[in-house]
This record gives sequence, structure tokens and C-alpha cells, in this order.
Amino acid sequence: MILVTGGAGYIGSHCVRELKERGIDVVVYDNLTTGHIESVPEGVPFVKGDIFDVELLCETFAKYGVDSVIHFAAYSLVGESMVNPAKYYHNNVAGTLALLDAMIAEKVGYLVFSSSAATYGDCGSGLITEDSPQNPTSVYGQTKLMMEQFMQDYDKAYGLKYVALRYFNAAGAHVSGEIGEAHNPESHLIPIILQVANGTRGHIGIYGEDYPTPDGTCVRDYIHITDLADAHIRALDYLKSGGKSTYYNLGNGNGFSVKEVIDMTEKVTGLPIKREVEARRAGDPPTLVASSEKIRRELGWVPKYDSLESIISSAWKWHSTHPRGYSK
Ligand code: UFG
Repeated sequence: MILVTGGAGYIGSHCVRELKERGIDVVVYDNLTTGHIESVPEGVPFVKGDIFDVELLCETFAKYGVDSVIHFAAYSLVGESMVNPAKYYHNNVAGTLALLDAMIAEKVGYLVFSSSAATYGDCGSGLITEDSPQNPTSVYGQTKLMMEQFMQDYDKAYGLKYVALRYFNAAGAHVSGEIGEAHNPESHLIPIILQVANGTRGHIGIYGEDYPTPDGTCVRDYIHITDLADAHIRALDYLKSGGKSTYYNLGNGNGFSVKEVIDMTEKVTGLPIKREVEARRAGDPPTLVASSEKIRRELGWVPKYDSLESIISSAWKWHSTHPRGYSK
């Protein structure tokens, strides 16, 4: 049995769907601060709990016979982490320590951890590999890097086996259109553009067009949420078959600028997207594009949604039918 922390959140809920579709037993553990109970599939056990609650975690591990954890629960807004670092250090860092303590106490030995490209910071314009220096430019990225370091030490001391997956820009929605991205407030590029398309927002503000990139806007590597979910399942299979603790980048390896994403959304939706150039957002590196060769080579991971068009199309299926997210 796998316990998924943050299993009612955007990335967690898609991973839970994928596990369920493959007939793998899973229990969702989420405090619903940012998650949505509506995203938890029928028949999947749900525990409303906090990652700080070691007692409840231990009880849940024992009750469901949990042998592994996929850990998504975290605050994840780069901008917010800069103005409220305490919230990020307390929740992400101290919360993960509590989770690790519960795992050690109950002998739950496998962990797949949701890390981030934000652990690298600004690496210039080339492809980022796992050996690129990790110098986070945000508190959020710093918390993810600290958690990677804890896991390394917990492996050495207690034998905890982990895979840290460093995602680039998670995007898209489940092929059914039943679950998707629904943050409140929304800060991510693709859902904001789609809110312009579905009429719940007037325009998209482009945060700066004077970056050292081909069209002056920031370049990112968008990766479909179902491809991310598949990587988590592969990582867990790898650990359970005796694999050593390790870390992988997850991206498509293709960079798209903010303007290219807006243009592609116009193509996918057939609707004009009103845009206005605004000031730069603090902490945005000009370019972040992954080399995912390591996970392709070692775990045989191949993204199915490798075009920006397919990623935006799946997100549009959700946003065109759920203009207010999970709210009725
Ligand atoms: N952007 C705009 N206008 C908007 C929103 C975003 O121009 O209204 C731009 C941003 O400046 C950035 C790009 O669109 O250049 C993508 O922005 P997102 O907020 O969608 O994503 P980020 O690249 O900032 O962040 C993502 C994840 C983080 C993770 C980070 C890793 O959301 O959790 O990648 O660098 F930490």
C-alpha cells in the first residue's frame, strides 16, 4: 500500500489517478489546505491529516499496511516563499522531518519525493543536468534542496531508500477532463492563460520581455502531469526492486517562451488571448530547460505528451468545462 501525502493537490491527485488506473493500492493523506477532496477518486481511502501529525501518520501506516510513501505535500509558491519564509521552512522542512520520523518509526522504507527545478536556480541557457550546481534563488527551492539533503542522511543512517524527482513546469490535466489544475489564487502561466480563454480573467500579464531569450520572455520546459505521475510509479518500482537512492530531472527537454505558450493557446482554443507586458516578477530565471536523459536511460521513462500542443489541449479540456475549478 502506498500513502500519497498531498494526494488531493494538483500533482498528487493525478498521481493517485494513475496508481488507481493501474490497480495499485493507495491511501490519500492531505490536510486539504490547498487540496480538493473532489479530486480523490471514489473507493480510495482518504485521511484528513497534517504531515506534522506523527501519531496520525504512524496510525495510518499501521492501519493500511503502508510500505512506501509518495510525498507531495508542500507549499509551492516561489513568490510567497520570499515574503513568508517562515511558512515554508516550518511546513515544508519541519513537516517533512516529521513525516520521515514517522516512516522510520513504522519501518516504511521507500520514499518518492517531489523535488523541483527550483533547487538549481539560474543555470544559464543550456540544458540542466542532475550534475548542474544546486544554488536555489528562492526560499521554496531552498526548502526542497534541504529536504533532499535530509533524505541522503536518513538513507546513510537508517537505510531509507528514496528517489527525488526534480520537476520542471508541471502542466496539463488528466485525459478525462475530470481533474485538473485549480490553485486559489492561481499564479501559474498555462491556467492563467486558459482563464482568459474561458472568460474568467480579462488578460494575461507577461512578466517582462527584456530577458536574454530569443523573444525576450522567459523560457520554460513544460511537462505533462500524467508523464510526471508515470515517473513516480517507475521510481517506486525501481526502489522496491532494490534500487539505490537517487535523483532525476523531469522535463521534456524543449523550452517555450511565455509568448510561444500564449500563441499556442490561441491555436488550441481558437480564441484570441489578450496580453499586456508587465514588469518582471522577482526571482524568475530567464531559462529553465531540463535534460531528462538520466531517467530515460535508467528507468525507461518516455513522456507521452511531448508536444506543447498536447499539454495545452489537455489543460483546456479541464478549464473549458470547470471555469471555477472544483467550485460549483
Ligand atoms: N508568467 C507570466 N505571467 C503570469 C504567470 C507567469 O508571464 O501571469 C511567466 C513567469 O514569469 C515564468 C513563466 O511564465 O517566466 C512560468 O511561470 P509559472 O509561474 O507558471 O512557473 P515557474 O516557472 O515560475 O515555476 C514553476 C513551478 C514552481 C517551481 C518552478 C521551478 O510552478 O513550483 O517552476 O523553477 F518551483
